[in-house]
Amino acid sequence: TTPRKFSIVCIPGDGIGVDITEAAVQVLGTLSDTFGTFTFQFTTLDWSSKNYRQRGYYAPEGGIEGLKKYDAIYFGAVGWPDVPDHISLWQMIPTHSHDPQPIRQPDPSALDWVIVRENSEGEYSGHGGTTPSSAHAAHTVATEVSIFTRVGIARIVRFAFETALRRPRRTLTMVTKSNAQRHGMVLWDTVFYEVAREYDGRVAYDKMLVDAMTVRMVTRPQSLDTIVATNLHADILSDLAAALSGSIGIAPSSNLDPSRTYPSMFEPIHGSAPDIAGQGIANPIGAFWSAAEMVRWLAGASDGEGLGAESMVHAADCLMQAIANVTEQGVKTRDLGGKSGTKEVTDAVDIVCDPKA
Ligand code: NAI
Repeated sequence: TTPRKFSIVCIPGDGIGVDITEAAVQVLGTLSDTFGTFTFQFTTLDWSSKNYRQRGYYAPEGGIEGLKKYDAIYFGAVGWPDVPDHISLWQMIPTHSHDPQPIRQPDPSALDWVIVRENSEGEYSGHGGTTPSSAHAAHTVATEVSIFTRVGIARIVRFAFETALRRPRRTLTMVTKSNAQRHGMVLWDTVFYEVAREYDGRVAYDKMLVDAMTVRMVTRPQSLDTIVATNLHADILSDLAAALSGSIGIAPSSNLDPSRTYPSMFEPIHGSAPDIAGQGIANPIGAFWSAAEMVRWLAGASDGEGLGAESMVHAADCLMQAIANVTEQGVKTRDLGGKSGTKEVTDAVDIVCDPKA
């Protein structure tokens, strides 16, 4: 049978985003060569801060629209000290991509979580203003309005319950701050419990205030499984999750469009790390994990019924196993207490499982 073909657009961005994207492309090539049931065609777009400084824009006109023709987006990291973060972030990090950011920890015995992050509204909706427009005036007033919609909340909560349903422990924790924020967060809670009724008896669920949640993540990590939170809360909690698991360099994220109308985007959660950029020491594990999640997601694309899909899910599992083997052999970057560079870790990834098994 002919291999399934996927076109992937890579946006390496800045700093270590470039190194880890290169590492992920290498490993994805090894994976597809080993399996032979799927291939990737990569296109790279240089939408970086360097380009922004030279041309005045990250994505050219129509650039974002042009991403629609790809099967998936692989993103490194964007942001550099000489461009204010609110510019790089709003121009490049797609805020209108749909839904969640699953974050999972490799050691299943202690931390094994999926964080489902609302990613199109909430605190990062971009509503607000500054009067007068200068932030330096003596009486400047600025507002930052959170937007919560019934449709948006129901969509993310339902996705979280469906995710929890497929996890071994079938447990969902909802994160809120409705004790202090009396409008948006109350709607969030209300819609959560409405949707929850559909899953009664199938998924166990509970509610945590976000401040208490940070404590529970540290002191009772094994009591958590799937977590659903707003854009801001999940943003912060996912960094905490990454730090708890050893390094921010290992955590993956997926920006999914569950309807599959638009390509989904996969990226490690870390940024461009200017402090270590250009030294060849960035940890590529989060990049590989994100690549594995991309393979898993593409398995379910509409052309992938039957064997094609099974083979790709198996490939994603094999890649995860290969990553674990590398770490177990002690081939680790400095952030994990090792001595190896990005390239050594990347070259050490060996797909040993039987593609036909
Ligand atoms: P960061 O994640 O780039 O770095 C935080 C710390 O973690 C640094 O000490 C860094 O060396 C370390 N680190 C991060 N990834 C690592 C890896 N793979 N291996 C080893 N160590 C790693 O966060 P920071 O410094 O707050 O942001 C730097 C720039 O990146 C900013 O411009 C920010 O806006 C941008 N950023 C972009 C993101 C994205 O594109 N999704 C996400 C977060 C930040």
